[in-house]
Amino acid sequence: MKVEEPKVIHNIYSDVIKGEDVKMYEKSFSQIKQIYKDDNNVDENTLMYTVYSYEKGDSNKAGDLYWGLTILEPVYINGECNMTRGHFHNDLNCAEFYFGIDGEGLLMLMDENGKTWCEKVFKGSLHHIDGKLAHRLLNTGDTQLKVGACWPTVAGHDYAKIEDKEFGYRVFKKEDELIFEER
Ligand SMILES: [Fe+2]
Repeated sequence: MKVEEPKVIHNIYSDVIKGEDVKMYEKSFSQIKQIYKDDNNVDENTLMYTVYSYEKGDSNKAGDLYWGLTILEPVYINGECNMTRGHFHNDLNCAEFYFGIDGEGLLMLMDENGKTWCEKVFKGSLHHIDGKLAHRLLNTGDTQLKVGACWPTVAGHDYAKIEDKEFGYRVFKKEDELIFEER
């Protein structure tokens, strides 16, 4: 019997995902500044977050899965916590798992009526995200926030729906306190 080496390695606590079919993109402040309340005096080139995804599966085949890693830098935009754009899935039947690897942050969730809440994210936390909920990560700490994910290849990403109707709260950190500002 043939025994093969794995094609992809994810040393979860010490490295990013490496191997075949692994994609990576970075978001600089200039690419996502519209989601922040106040973008004054921020270097446009500031790295905000990096996303790795192991995209072995077929994006049209129900039952296939993707594996991912998001790393949010410990950056505050005039006090507002660094966050991902956030999205609904195109297919609202598709749930997703997130899991905390390092750092501290929040998983912000929103239902289709705009009701918004958060779960704490930290090393070891595990989050089941219902397919109907929009989701966004926020770094509330002073180190990188690293979060793993696994989701159906057919889920898709609907960012436009968030641009039309943003999450119900903004999160700021001032003098070590989190402040939740309703929109
Ligand atoms: Fe998702």
